[in-house]
Amino acid sequence: MRVPIIAGNWKMNTTVSEAVELVNEMRQGLDEIDNVDKVICPPFISLAAVRELIKGSSVKLGAQNIYFEEKGAYTGEIAPLMLAELCEYVIIGHSERRQYFNETGEIINRKVQAALKAGLKPILCIGERLEENEAGRTEEVISQQLKASTTRKYYQSGLIIAYEPVWAIGTGMAATGKQVNKTIGFIRQIIYQKCCTRVAQETRILYGGSVTADNIAEFISQPEIDGALVGGASLKADQFLSIVKQTSEIGGLKEGASSS
Ligand code: 13P
Repeated sequence: MRVPIIAGNWKMNTTVSEAVELVNEMRQGLDEIDNVDKVICPPFISLAAVRELIKGSSVKLGAQNIYFEEKGAYTGEIAPLMLAELCEYVIIGHSERRQYFNETGEIINRKVQAALKAGLKPILCIGERLEENEAGRTEEVISQQLKASTTRKYYQSGLIIAYEPVWAIGTGMAATGKQVNKTIGFIRQIIYQKCCTRVAQETRILYGGSVTADNIAEFISQPEIDGALVGGASLKADQFLSIVKQTSEIGGLKEGASSS
C-alpha cells in the first residue's frame, strides 16, 4: 500500500515571519486530514521556526536542497546531519537546481546517497524539457536521469521520485493525468527492472508542475500517481489545504503497479 504524499515546495519565497504566518494559517487544517503524508518545504532559514510550530502535529517538514559533504569548508552549504536534526524530507535535483546551479546527475546522485545516509527521505526530481518532450524523448531523458542519479540501494531505502516535466513547472500548463500516469508507469517499470516487483510497487512517485486545487483530482484519480509536489499553490493556505483534502478523499491508499 502506498500512502499518497502532498509536498509543498515553497522555493525561494517567504521570509521567516511570512513562513510562520503561512504555517499558522494551515497547520490545524492539515493536521486534521488523514491518509496523506503532508510535507512542507520552506527555505532553509525557516526550518527551525516551522519545526517548532508543527511539533505534535501530523505535518512533516522538508528542505529544498542539501550538500553531500558531511562538514567542512564549504561556505554557504548545508550538510545532511544539519538537516536531519530539523526535518525528515529533502527535495533533491529539482530542475531549477539543474538549470541555474549546474547540478549534474553525478552531483544529484551524491546528494541522494548523503541524504539517505543521514536518515533523511529524499524526494528526487526528474523530468524532461519542452524540446525533449516535443522530440518524443521523454522516456529516454527520464531513463538517463534515473541511471545517473540512482542505484538499486536507493530504491530499497525508500527513495521518493517526483516526475516534474520542466515545461509544466510554473507555466500553468499542467500535463494531463493520462500523460503523467503513463510516464510514471514507465518509471515504475524501470524500478522493477532495477530491483524487484515489491520495491517497484512500494516506491512513491509524485507528479509536479502547475498542480492546483482545480486539477489535483485529475492526477490523484490515476492509479500510478502517488501525490504531488506543489509549487505556487503551496504558498496559498486555502489552495494547499484543498489539494491535500481532495487527495485524502480521492486518493486513499494505492495498491499494485503496472510492473507487477
Ligand atoms: P508549480 O506548482 O509552481 O508549477 O511548481 C512545481 C514545482 O516545481 C514543485 O517542485
